[in-house]
Amino acid sequence: MSDPTATASTAYRAMLSLIASVEPRIAEAIKAELDDQRASLKLIASENYASLPTLLGMGTWLSDKYAEGTVGHRFYAGCQNVDTVEAVASEHARELFGAEYAYAQPHSGIDANLVAYWAILSHSIERPTLEKLGAKTVHDLSQNDWDRLRHDLGNQRLMGMSLDAGGHLTHGFRHNISGKMFDQRSYGTDPETGLIDYSALRQQAREFKPLILVAGYSAYPRRINFAIMREIADEVGAVLMVDMAHFAGLVAGKVFSGDEDPIPHAQVVTTTTHKSLRGPRGGLVLATKEFADDVDRGCPMVLGGPLGHMMASKAIALAEARQPSFQQYAQLVADNAKALAEGLLKRGTRLVTGGTDNHLVLVDVAGSFGLTGRQAEGALLDSGIVTNRNSIPRDPNGAWYTSGIRLGTPALSSRGFTTADMDAVAGLIVGVLQQTTPTTTAAGVPGKAKYSLAEGVAAATKSAAGELLGNHPLYPGLEL
Ligand SMILES: Cc1ncc(COP(=O)(O)O)c(C=O)c1O
Repeated sequence: MSDPTATASTAYRAMLSLIASVEPRIAEAIKAELDDQRASLKLIASENYASLPTLLGMGTWLSDKYAEGTVGHRFYAGCQNVDTVEAVASEHARELFGAEYAYAQPHSGIDANLVAYWAILSHSIERPTLEKLGAKTVHDLSQNDWDRLRHDLGNQRLMGMSLDAGGHLTHGFRHNISGKMFDQRSYGTDPETGLIDYSALRQQAREFKPLILVAGYSAYPRRINFAIMREIADEVGAVLMVDMAHFAGLVAGKVFSGDEDPIPHAQVVTTTTHKSLRGPRGGLVLATKEFADDVDRGCPMVLGGPLGHMMASKAIALAEARQPSFQQYAQLVADNAKALAEGLLKRGTRLVTGGTDNHLVLVDVAGSFGLTGRQAEGALLDSGIVTNRNSIPRDPNGAWYTSGIRLGTPALSSRGFTTADMDAVAGLIVGVLQQTTPTTTAAGVPGKAKYSLAEGVAAATKSAAGELLGNHPLYPGLEL
């Protein structure tokens, strides 16, 4: 039998040459992206490397089919193959996570959250109103009743984690549609420990009485107790929605179980598929049976026509995540994050919450090195280490310059980096940041954007990083 990676190399070369015959700049960008990804230490907590089957699953004619609606109930004819693809993706998602219902259509995490919000509004506000008024659908309502329902839909409350504690824009913040849809309040973290304070959260929920309590984060380096979150939601009559976009891979790989697994506790769970779950870019919504019909109305309620090629790729990635090897991968992600945190701590770095027990680490670069997040991100990038700046709780430098950088291990773990490698990576990061100084402004004070990096540091770090990367090649055997 021929070597599948060699076959994939031939296929990709043919693909690039076909694309180049139409628009060479795109072929070049595709090739350059692989070279860049291969040559950098990728520590962006929300990124990963999808497998070749997952990547190949996206590039097909399933993209050419319109299939608005849901499996077996489409607004277009001839959707039998998209039906198959969507049904298989949903089946894998249900089985992988032990969910009663899975919706595979969302095009991204933002879309998944929007589907979830409207499903909850439909379930908790629209349906009871229709029932009370004896109407079958919204079309049966008088103009007055319809106006009242629209007013009620637009006046609900949502409570989620604050942005600087690690929450996400889609959890009710003003720059996102969720902040315009809901009256929102945030819960933060304890100022001393940096951890979620469940009793403060409970008190806040009792006072605010949200319709939706959102748990989940983009930059909180700890696990959440979803049993307590559900207890709080039940006590105040809220629906618990968990956005596990960041840590879905750790749930799939059973690193998070019991009270740390959101599926048995939340009525609705959303996720992206491309972060720790290692699939294609996209989203999923999981729900209890009670919410299934409302989630299923995501398209055309808030989503455009389903992307058949993306659902095919999701199905492949979800099938991969059901393999025992994915559990080993997920454990490695968590072990590597711990090793990275320990490597940073022993070299004198301050970490938000003092460490990690998930896949990410939040470094206080202002407190540790006198830099803004922007300066640290720039100096590291110059040295071949890709990270992103991130606010830390009560950040004095705001959301643009920030005082932190966020580091995550899903991508390097996919390349096979070990805990010893992560200690070496911690050494490289500290080496760069210790030799970076903020440039002073014309007024003689340290600036927030510009910096200087001591001579030779970037080159030496790139070379050391190159050695580590060389030991763990990305897509080994794939030659373009
Ligand atoms: C917690 C959380 N939810 C939702 C999203 C949005 O995902 P997407 O970029 O796929 O829309 C993100 C992305 O960073 C996230 O971290």
